[in-house]
Amino acid sequence: MLFESRLLSERMRNGFCFLHQTHSIIMHGIGLGFRRNIADETIQLSGITPDFLEIAPENWMGMGGYWKKKLHEAADKYPITAHGLSLSIGSPDPLNIEFIQRVKAFLNSFDIALYSEHLSYSQSGNAHLYDLLPIPFREDAVKHIVERIKVVQDILERPLILENVSYYTPVAAEMSEAEFIRSIVEESKCQLLLDVNNVYVNAFNHSYNAKAFINALPLEKVAYIHMAGHEKVSDDLIIDTHGQPIIDPVYELFEWTVGQLHPVPVLLERDFNLPKMIELQKELSQLREITAKNWRSNVA
Ligand SMILES: [Fe+2]
Repeated sequence: MLFESRLLSERMRNGFCFLHQTHSIIMHGIGLGFRRNIADETIQLSGITPDFLEIAPENWMGMGGYWKKKLHEAADKYPITAHGLSLSIGSPDPLNIEFIQRVKAFLNSFDIALYSEHLSYSQSGNAHLYDLLPIPFREDAVKHIVERIKVVQDILERPLILENVSYYTPVAAEMSEAEFIRSIVEESKCQLLLDVNNVYVNAFNHSYNAKAFINALPLEKVAYIHMAGHEKVSDDLIIDTHGQPIIDPVYELFEWTVGQLHPVPVLLERDFNLPKMIELQKELSQLREITAKNWRSNVA
């Protein structure tokens, strides 16, 4: 088990609520990505601290020595969630079963219940891309992905939590993006990672209504939220950089969104251009204040 009862009761006193069952942590709170260049600061942080840390398994699996020790130090202090980078669930290529089994062993070794990935693909043939490519919103793609999700979930013995991604090129669509996501979630029984900043970025770049899009999603299946910053590079283009502070309109969309949902963990996703820790702590506080005020269960 990840926590001793002392730590469990301490966290419950602090308002961080979770129930611990085998591979089924129900938790909420505000988390921070665990990055190597802020690893020591994160582990030693006092005052305003995240409720959990998110790691990319690919960056830590098989790591020995110094970085393995740092990950254990982090896991001793914080609950951990995992957000994968290279599952490539939408790829036309066969799933990499050996990779998925290694991910499972890693998740089990740190008792990580929440494993999320991207509803996109990054691999085709010999090409391994750093970008997340959009999947055509088509019925045959839904079928293909649903079958693959079931295989992944069977191996992992956990629900897969899939994230709505930002995209910049039009895709061959037979249905709306929201219908596409809904079909996949309903047919595969996977869960949804709602990235509110990605919704904002896509709504701006593709001229649709962000709230209408969120309302069309299977909100009862949202298990996790990402919040991040972006960069507006021209009058009609925003790039999802994760390298800037969250802007007010994204906070406003987040505030409205949490009013539609029951509490789930929220992750401050800052990957690049990392500021001083005090700036990240301010963002954690702002997210915490919004959720404390607006979770649906608080007003029901
Ligand atoms: Fe995200």
